[in-house]
Amino acid sequence: MATALPTLLHFTLVLLGIILLIPQAAEALDLVFNNSAEGTAGGDRFDQQIREGGALEIMNSSIIFIWNTFGQQSGVDRKNVTKVTLIVESMDGIAYASGDEIHLSAEYVGNYSGDVKTEIRGVLYHEMTHVWQWDGNGNAPGGFIEGFADYVRLTAGLAPSHWIKPGSGDRWDHGYDVTAYFLQYCESIRAGFVACMNAKLKGGWDIRFFNDLTGKSVDQLWKDYKAIYSSST
Ligand SMILES: *[C@@H]1O[C@H](CO)[C@@H](O)[C@H](O)[C@H]1NC(C)=O
Ligand SMILES: *[C@@H]1O[C@H](CO)[C@@H](O)[C@H](O)[C@H]1NC(C)=O
Ligand SMILES: *[C@@H]1O[C@H](CO)[C@@H](O)[C@H](O)[C@H]1NC(C)=O
Ligand SMILES: *[C@@H]1O[C@H](CO)[C@@H](O)[C@H](O)[C@H]1NC(C)=O
Repeated sequence: MATALPTLLHFTLVLLGIILLIPQAAEALDLVFNNSAEGTAGGDRFDQQIREGGALEIMNSSIIFIWNTFGQQSGVDRKNVTKVTLIVESMDGIAYASGDEIHLSAEYVGNYSGDVKTEIRGVLYHEMTHVWQWDGNGNAPGGFIEGFADYVRLTAGLAPSHWIKPGSGDRWDHGYDVTAYFLQYCESIRAGFVACMNAKLKGGWDIRFFNDLTGKSVDQLWKDYKAIYSSST
């Protein structure tokens, strides 16, 4: 039930047959999928719509997308994660990430009406972001951390239609779609903002990280962001 995810460098070196000469490239990442809800409507729907191969493909694609979003082409910049497990199981809610495990609700999959494949992919891109992102040693606002996960979902083209419109919301750290669109604004005025902010969150949390990266306070940035949309509403 496991497969190895080579880094692009690793992949290239394997093709060249010189993998053993580069110790740091020999690290592989194990991806594990476990559908513990087989036999339930949602578990079986997952198997029909996604299958194990599809689950591993989504995990692999999302990881590469996240590394690119965070500018972590090299393993030394990333969190030291050696294995990620996706578990489809009977539970309340939609999904959550805990350490290197992602849990997805079979009931949510079973009840979802609409394009369930795209929804599952979007949910998993969000949860996979939590596996890899830094969170200021737990001190960054929770809404900010959720915003990164939805920023990844948004920029992967997986934002669902029920999300708020850009420019909506009252607080930069409201979380989810509100904060995702705000992060997109920050990225638009300072290319590399999201990757640099994530890197800063490795060492802790300070609201002045916004000033460091853009020369403006987060309150000023939020005002500037809201002002873009104020004339049209
Ligand atoms: C993961 O994606 C990379 C890049 O697209 C690809 O080279 C690799 O074969 C994939 N690995 C798996 C296990 O699907
Ligand atoms: C799958 O998950 C279930 C429930 O968490 C666990 O009991 C089982 O051992 C797991 N199976 C594999 C192959 O990891
Ligand atoms: C990463 O974690 C693995 C497993 O916990 C450990 O064996 C390895 O030494 C760690 N690597 C680094 C660079 O810390
Ligand atoms: C829909 O959700 C309810 C409540 O969690 C659950 O009992 C039911 O099995 C779900 N239906 C499907 C088809 O998964």
